[in-house]
Amino acid sequence: MQSTVDDTETMTVKKYDIRDIQLASKGRERIEWAGRSMPVVESIRKRFLKEKPLKGIRISACLHVTTETANLMAALKAGGADCVLCASNPLSTQDEVAASLVKHDGISVFAIRGEDKKTYYRHIHRALDHRPNITMDDGADLVSEVHGKRRTLADDMIGSTEETTTGVIRLRSLEKKGLLLFPVLAVNDSKTKHFFDNRYGTGQSTLDGIIRATNMLIAGTVFVVCGYGWCGRGVAQKARGLGAHVIVTETDPLKALEAVMDGFDVMRFREAASIGQIFVTVTGNTSVIRKEHFLRMRDGAIVANSGHFNVEIDIPALKELSTQVRKIRDVIEEFRLKDGRRIHLIAGGRLVNLSAAEGHPPSVMDMSFANQALGVEYLVQSRGRLDARMCTLPEKLDQQIASLKLASMKVRIDRLTREQAKYLSSWEFGT
Ligand code: ADE
Repeated sequence: MQSTVDDTETMTVKKYDIRDIQLASKGRERIEWAGRSMPVVESIRKRFLKEKPLKGIRISACLHVTTETANLMAALKAGGADCVLCASNPLSTQDEVAASLVKHDGISVFAIRGEDKKTYYRHIHRALDHRPNITMDDGADLVSEVHGKRRTLADDMIGSTEETTTGVIRLRSLEKKGLLLFPVLAVNDSKTKHFFDNRYGTGQSTLDGIIRATNMLIAGTVFVVCGYGWCGRGVAQKARGLGAHVIVTETDPLKALEAVMDGFDVMRFREAASIGQIFVTVTGNTSVIRKEHFLRMRDGAIVANSGHFNVEIDIPALKELSTQVRKIRDVIEEFRLKDGRRIHLIAGGRLVNLSAAEGHPPSVMDMSFANQALGVEYLVQSRGRLDARMCTLPEKLDQQIASLKLASMKVRIDRLTREQAKYLSSWEFGT
């Protein structure tokens, strides 16, 4: 059942569009469970509740609708923000979380797991109808619409936050052309974000997604990771940890060199294509696995994407090569090629970690979303003082998040002595 309710005051504006409001209590339990591993966001929520730094601020967020995002929404709401949420991926929505946010938190949510492209964009526009002062993106979809069809909304905007590498790349190209209309905070660039979320979060949740989708034993497989950025490093490391023979492919010589020195086999993708059993793209680029590669793959190959968009695998080319396509497990399609070989695509080439599993675990999203919450507060505090450019969270706040996370883990570290601090800040001392 799909629940859609009219706003009782205007009777015209739909307040939410979700799968089923009856799922709310299940959602609440799952949100609470995740919250227990998000102590940094919780401490921010408590402070926000007292200080109300976001009072009167309208926020439209386009994020994966997960238990972790629900805890972020709770913190923003505690800070006084008026929030609306839509999905940043048609397959990542946890319908029970959407229901709980609507029912228990009074947040308008426009997201239904499995929604088609038209609904996905309709939901993005519903979120923008909120006339946000701040948008939050995971992949730059809201900001793109504000720079395209919804330009008048820019008048009310203080700024925006961007969660992910791919989104930051898109926005930097907008900035380079001098077209950015307001400041955008690149949350991804905080150290407490990409060092941890991209590496440990993507690493674990990608393997989790592949295992849940296939029920395969990873040990002993030939596992090919395309891309050795922070996400690729994480995926390669976790696959190795599970006993796979890992091959890395890269186009950047520095990253390729790093992968070699980290002990991975590095080769061109056309060579890896004929020996790999499991392939994961994490490049942020388009058509990484394409026709000439499918033609070389072994029977039974598994292909998945854990970059942001579903463009890394050339699915139209795979379809063209196939004589038959069938769904063989919940999120796996089997493509039968003309010579009888079978290639298996997970989650239609969309983010495997969020489509086939639950995305990054809460304890790592704790830091990413602490950056989001403090980032929104920073944009509000800096209102009118930031240029219409990409910016990052001040280093001090990044450090603060790391300190809070360590404290929550009961890990204590040393402090520099006065002598050491002096040594580090002077140039006169040599050997
Ligand atoms: N991105 C990756 N994992 C996520 C999660 N669990 N929640 C929200 N966004 C995510």
